[in-house]
Amino acid sequence: MGYVLGIDLGTSSLKGIVMNKAGQVIAEASAEYEIDSPAPGFSEQHPEYWVVACEEVLTRLNIEVADFNAELEAISFSGQMHSLVTLGDEDAIVYPAILWNDVRTTKQCEQIMAEFGDSMIEITKNIVLEGFTLPKILWLQQNKPEVWEKVRKIMLPKDYLAFVLTGNMHCEYSDAAGTSLFDIEKQDWSAEICGKFGIDMAILPDVVSSMTQVGVVKASYAKRFGLKREVKVFAGGADNACAALGAGAVNEDYALVSLGTSGVFSSFEAKISNYEGKLHFFNHVIPDANYSMGVTLAAGNSLNWFKNTFGKGLSFAELLADVYTVAPGSEGLLFTPYIVGERTPHIDSKIRGSFVGIDTRHEIKHFARAVLEGITFSLKDAQILMEDAKNKKFKQIISVGGGAKNADWMQMQADIFNAEMIRLEVEQGPGVGACMLAAVGSGWFENFEACRDVFVQYKDATFTPRAENVEKYEKLYEIYTQVYPATKNICGALTDLQEV
Ligand code: XUL
Repeated sequence: MGYVLGIDLGTSSLKGIVMNKAGQVIAEASAEYEIDSPAPGFSEQHPEYWVVACEEVLTRLNIEVADFNAELEAISFSGQMHSLVTLGDEDAIVYPAILWNDVRTTKQCEQIMAEFGDSMIEITKNIVLEGFTLPKILWLQQNKPEVWEKVRKIMLPKDYLAFVLTGNMHCEYSDAAGTSLFDIEKQDWSAEICGKFGIDMAILPDVVSSMTQVGVVKASYAKRFGLKREVKVFAGGADNACAALGAGAVNEDYALVSLGTSGVFSSFEAKISNYEGKLHFFNHVIPDANYSMGVTLAAGNSLNWFKNTFGKGLSFAELLADVYTVAPGSEGLLFTPYIVGERTPHIDSKIRGSFVGIDTRHEIKHFARAVLEGITFSLKDAQILMEDAKNKKFKQIISVGGGAKNADWMQMQADIFNAEMIRLEVEQGPGVGACMLAAVGSGWFENFEACRDVFVQYKDATFTPRAENVEKYEKLYEIYTQVYPATKNICGALTDLQEV
């Protein structure tokens, strides 16, 4: 029959998902690991955590699936983006991986943008944020010169794992794009950026496409896991690109909304665009394609915070049970979800959330609805940037994560985005995208659209915009967009006061 294995190397766990040629999920296994925070704002993991987790997942899959070792044909990866892995002599790790959600590098970001900002946007199509890789390199150069001196190679997390499994080092376009060292248009490392920031290009691995076979599982692992075939390993991709692929967003008609702790609105882009840093813009795992992406830092996190603070003891289902009885607009109550700062379209770490228009008639159900509406409005900001740039409307938007679990929220998304909303039959996350890379790479399918038709199924029910709600939400969105400029200085002053 033949199996592919998609390995999703996430921030808190590594998940393995085994699929067959009919697109069926045969088994799943995951293993968790810690995030170390040795100082405020630091977020680190030793790459060995990922290796141990991967070995545990392989062991469990081998036990769970009788013919796993006989039928496994290929492996590919989805990986947490941006995190810096540093290797020294004999490929030994010289410093823990500095993760994408580490915020120690504000100074370095300011330095890069002040010295080289316009060129960064021109070359990488993104501004530099704390999470990205280049400021982490500068932090090491400036704060740990004795460590930086030892660095012989830098890698991204999933590429390090592929190196451990195959013995070969490489990077691929979709993850290279998130380093702030990569020329998105030329699909190559930027000599200009490396020269400017004292980075010897010899420390950068060769870059290949996501479907390139980068090796086979090396003999020691094949023996340990009793693998009967030579298992091919394909490069894989960044988690956000794999999530889009795994949800079937493989052409410009579709956008993807993912509502997890943070919220992501992403869309396939056939050509290079320059959003001047207002959106992220990265190379896709699909050859010669790209994707744009807007991020709301606290999406599910806003709802979580609201439940824990004002709805203690309630389940999410109970908290949201009555929101459908409240009309769009929450009877004059508006929420902005900036409770931990914001990324898109306002890159502002000092902005904070607001409830505007509180009235004596408002009950918890009005607040709960306003929170859902505010989160959705914040992602509409990204949708508008994408649609305006292309002068088009998305035909359908695929919703995944928490927002896809609640029918009222799905309808609200249809009304606010003014687009048909669909959701997946079964959600397996970016690991499915990794399986698809292995499947297409192995020649199971001619292209991604053919693979999508077999691997991705949507639920029959589609949520269609309701004209009267669309009209109301358009007016409300106009008001929503006024809250950020009106509260920016107030929030900045409040944050500064706390820091004194
Ligand atoms: C993207 C980003 C996160 C990580 C999570 O820019 O920082 O979504 O990819 O792994």
